[in-house]
Amino acid sequence: MGFIVAVDGTAGSGKGSITKIVAEKLNLVAIDTGAMYRCVALAMLEKNIKIEETGKIEELLQNIKIEFFDKDGEKKVFLNGEDVTKKIRTVEVTEYASPVATVKIVREHLVKLQREMAKSIDVIMEGRDIGTNVFPNADVKIYLDATPEERAQRRFKQNKENGIDTPYEEILKNVIDRDYRDSHRELSPLIKAPDAIYIDSTGMTVEEEANEVIKIIKDKIKNK
Ligand code: DC
Repeated sequence: MGFIVAVDGTAGSGKGSITKIVAEKLNLVAIDTGAMYRCVALAMLEKNIKIEETGKIEELLQNIKIEFFDKDGEKKVFLNGEDVTKKIRTVEVTEYASPVATVKIVREHLVKLQREMAKSIDVIMEGRDIGTNVFPNADVKIYLDATPEERAQRRFKQNKENGIDTPYEEILKNVIDRDYRDSHRELSPLIKAPDAIYIDSTGMTVEEEANEVIKIIKDKIKNK
C-alpha cells in the first residue's frame, strides 16, 4: 500500500474541491468514490434496474467499467467507455445514488475496486466510508462538514458553473435528505472515524480548507 489520505464528510462539504487541490499540491492521485456510486446509479437508471433486483445488479456489476482520466486539466469520469462526467451530476442520478449506495453487493464491489486502486500509488480518496471501512488504517483521516445551507449554496454555485439549473430550495432539500439517508443506512453509514480530524468549513474558503488539510498531512509525514 502507498500513502493513503482518507477524506470523508457530508454532501457538499467541499470534499471534491479540497481533494483535487491537495492531490495536485502534494502529488497524490485523487479518487472520487462518490462518482463510482453515481456511475452505478446511472447505469441502473439507464437499464431501469430497481435496487431490489439483486440478480440484475450483480450482472451489471460484472460488466461495469469505471475509469478516471485527466483531460485538459479536468477530471473526467468514463462509464463503459462513455464520458459521463456531466450526466452523473444531474438531480436524477444524485437522488438515485443514495439508495443505490445502500445495496450490499454494490458497496462490496466498489470497495474492492477502491482498495485495488490504492495498491501501488499514493492516494487521496474521498467518500463517506473511506476512513471507517475502505482504509481503516489510512495514514491520515479527515472528516469535513459545514451547515446544510452553506453546502446547498456551494452546490448551487457549482451546478451553475457546470450549466446545471436546479433551484436552491431543491438542492437544500436534497442535501438534507441525503445527509439523513447516508448517515442512517445500515451498511457503512457516514460517521466520523474516532481518529479522523474534524474540520467545520462553514465560512471558510476552499483555499483555507485545503491549506488546513495540507498542513495536517505534512505534519503527519514529518512525524512518520
Ligand atoms: O459524494 P457524492 O455526493 O458524489 O456521493 C454520491 C452518493 O454516493 C451519496 O449519496 C453517498 C454515496 N457514497 C457512499 O455511500 N460511499 C462513498 N464512499 C461515496 C459516496
